[in-house]
Parts: sequence; structure tokens; C-alpha cells
Amino acid sequence: MSASYKHRRSSMHSLFNDVIRIFICLLGLIQLSYEAGGSSKGDWQFGDPKGLCMRLQADISLYLTYYRNDGQQHDGTVHVPTTSKVNVTDSSCNKTVTTNGITVSSQVLILQLDQMPGWSLTFAFTQDPRFHTDNGKQYALYQINVTANYSSCSQQFPDASELTYVYYTPIDLNKTSDDNLELAEALYADNDHSFYCPSPNKFPINRDNVAGLPA
Ligand SMILES: *[C@@H]1O[C@H](CO)[C@@H](O)[C@H](O)[C@H]1NC(C)=O
Ligand SMILES: *[C@@H]1O[C@H](CO)[C@@H](O)[C@H](O)[C@H]1NC(C)=O
Ligand SMILES: *[C@@H]1O[C@H](CO)[C@@H](O)[C@H](O)[C@H]1NC(C)=O
Ligand SMILES: *[C@@H]1O[C@H](CO)[C@@H](O)[C@H](O)[C@H]1NC(C)=O
Ligand SMILES: *[C@@H]1O[C@H](CO)[C@@H](O)[C@H](O)[C@H]1NC(C)=O
Repeated sequence: MSASYKHRRSSMHSLFNDVIRIFICLLGLIQLSYEAGGSSKGDWQFGDPKGLCMRLQADISLYLTYYRNDGQQHDGTVHVPTTSKVNVTDSSCNKTVTTNGITVSSQVLILQLDQMPGWSLTFAFTQDPRFHTDNGKQYALYQINVTANYSSCSQQFPDASELTYVYYTPIDLNKTSDDNLELAEALYADNDHSFYCPSPNKFPINRDNVAGLPA
């Protein structure tokens, strides 16, 4: 299974100023990652009776802002354990995702974070041309959702004012700006359903550090 990865945006540095970020390092193709032998990299895949539809090899860290009881915002960091498992009940090779009033025919990969009860990570991919997929010839990763359960991770998120929180990529196709398509523009694959990036990169889940968080 070959893969390709390109940046359509040259100004990646601008992403580093964001508050809520995902750090994805897809270390390589199958054989390369075995050679690299990285111990912080997970390898997750999902298929249905028709065959494998998604594979993600990645070293993933999450940088999440949260509110403490004093009302101040702080950052917490989570490394997604490589022993995390795919949620085979809710992952799907063909699922209609409804978000902000639109429906998107999608492939959805859900990881349950190991030893972090109540934490999950959802990746939604699509060939829908509205996400700039070269008229459906590519798969784009258009949405990442993180369900956080601060109470099972209180070392990283001390004194959190909420018990749980869902971070998600906002989708608004009516917006004339491309901001909400930023993930889809940066992470896509030309062939098959395999995503690969040669070096660590940070991508925003959500640029809005106010509207996305509880007041
Ligand atoms: C994962 O699967 C379980 C069933 O094993 C289900 O109850 C749960 O809601 C799923 N989690 C997510 C985040 O979809
Ligand atoms: C996906 O599911 C829908 C109905 O849920 C079905 O109409 C469609 O044919 C399916 N597509 C594939 C590629 O299996
Ligand atoms: C992600 O979360 C948003 C907001 O709750 C929701 O609308 C969307 O359906 C979720 N996406 C997936 C793939 O579960
Ligand atoms: C959240 O974490 C707490 C503390 O570890 C745990 O008791 C609770 O069951 C978790 N919630 C979910 C939905 O797993
Ligand atoms: C986007 O525009 C359509 C057509 O004008 C409208 O029906 C829809 O409610 C809008 N969606 C959002 C999220 O604003």
C-alpha cells in the first residue's frame, strides 16, 4: 500500500501559534517504520468484510487547552499510547457523518486511548469534493475530534473545571475563507486510503480558543 503526502500550504509556521493542536508524525510506509523501529509510534487499521479501508501509523501527541477552577486557561499534553485500540464498534468504512447541518459520506477511525478511560480520538476521512479532494480522487482528513476525560488524566490536566470535554474541528462550508478546510488541505492521500507524513507536523483541531471551550 503506497501513500503520498504533500503540503498544499507553504506557511506551516502559522499553525504553531494555535491553541489546540494535534501533532501527527506518520513515520512512514510499513517497511520504513519497521526499520525506524520507533517505539512511540502506533499502527492502527480498520476494515470491514470488503477489506482494509484505513491505516494510520503515527506518533500522536495532543496539545489541549482547558480551564482550571480559577478561570484561567492552561495547556495539557497527551501522548496517545501506542497500545491504544481501534474502537471496532463505532469505526466505519462507510458512515454518514452529520456535522453543523451538513452530511458527509466518510470513513471514520476511532481510537480508545489506552489506560485513559473516557478518552477517544476520532479521525474522519472523505472523498467529498467539497473538501478539495481533486474531484473525489483523494481522501482528505477533514475532521478530528478528541473526547477528553480530564479526571482520568489529572496529572496533565490538574484542577480542571470540567470533567469532560469534546474538542472538534469546526466545519462551515459556507465560510468563504478556507480556515475550516485547513486539515483537509494539509492531510490527504492520492491513492488507496493510506496517510503518510515524513516528518512531525502540527495541525490545528480547532483554531477558536473561545467559542470551542466552555465559558
Ligand atoms: C466505543 O465502543 C464502545 C463499545 O465497545 C461504545 O460503547 C463506545 O461508545 C464507543 N466509543 C466511542 C468514542 O465511540
Ligand atoms: C455506503 O452506505 C450507503 C448506505 O448507508 C450505501 O448506499 C452505499 O452504497 C455504501 N457505499 C459503499 C461504497 O459501500
Ligand atoms: C465531531 O464532533 C462534532 C461536534 O460535536 C460533530 O458534529 C461531528 O459529527 C463529530 N464528527 C465525527 C466524525 O464524529
Ligand atoms: C473518566 O475518568 C474517571 C477517573 O479515572 C473514571 O472513573 C470514569 O469512568 C471515566 N469516564 C469514562 C466515560 O470512561
Ligand atoms: C449554509 O448555507 C445554506 C444555504 O444558504 C443554508 O441553508 C445553511 O443553513 C447554511 N449553513 C450554515 C451552517 O450556516
